Amino acid sequence: MAEPFLIGESMTGGYGAADILHGCTLAVEKGQIAVIVGPNGAGKSTAMKAVFGMLRLRAGHVKLEGEDITALTPQARVAKGMAFVPQTHNIFTSMTVEENLEMGAFLRRDDIRGTMEQVYELFPILKDKRRQAAGELSGGQRQQVAVGRALMTQPKVLMLDEPTAGVSPIVMDELFDRIIEVARTGISILMVEQNARQALMIADKGYVLVQGANRFTDTGPALMADPEVRRSFLGG
Ligand SMILES: Nc1ncnc2c1ncn2[C@@H]1O[C@H](COP(=O)(O)OP(=O)(O)OP(=O)(O)O)[C@@H](O)[C@H]1O
Ligand SMILES: [Mg+2]
Repeated sequence: MAEPFLIGESMTGGYGAADILHGCTLAVEKGQIAVIVGPNGAGKSTAMKAVFGMLRLRAGHVKLEGEDITALTPQARVAKGMAFVPQTHNIFTSMTVEENLEMGAFLRRDDIRGTMEQVYELFPILKDKRRQAAGELSGGQRQQVAVGRALMTQPKVLMLDEPTAGVSPIVMDELFDRIIEVARTGISILMVEQNARQALMIADKGYVLVQGANRFTDTGPALMADPEVRRSFLGG
């Protein structure tokens, strides 16, 4: 089998003396959606940081399109086509929506207006509010700003840590629809979600992470159908 488009393989590491990740593996194929679920404190965000280069790994490696990028800084990974929306502090609240999008494109030297128009097409409300401070927006709109900012780098892989945190079920459904749209353009999505059922429903691949290790890995629908996964992680 060919190598996945992006893979964090057998990742072991943490923030200090104790490891948080224990041989954790996450991967996503081109244009597909991979979803990571698991209890609070399982290490989901830590695993995302590791894939993006914000955590020094003691063992394991990260590969993008077959190239070992384990030693690269997050900035260098952005240049390679990776974008990451962290779980918290993912927008500049005092800047306008448009300034946030411009910040997303800071590495680009070409004309960014076409990409900005694409972001506004994906999230029309952001165009209406483009001169407003991002901090004045609703939770769902802020998440759109964060995703839009990440898309401004024209990434090959979009990594999202709980993009629907704190939004209503309707807004969550809309965000998931937009994420599916993004994946259909060929961008790979690697995302952590606490709305496990809904997220697994749209997942080509699902990962259940527990205590920094892979507990279950399968297609989204297969995980949803697994009685043990349902009982332990999806509330029955
Ligand atoms: N910056 C940090 N420094 C030290 N320890 C940390 C840091 N961030 C997280 N941890 C610890 O690492 C473990 C995993 O945390 P992590 O945030 O990765 O979990 P998570 O699965 O994303 O949880 P949640 O569902 O609450 O977002 C926890 O024990 C946490 O206390
Ligand atoms: Mg987290």
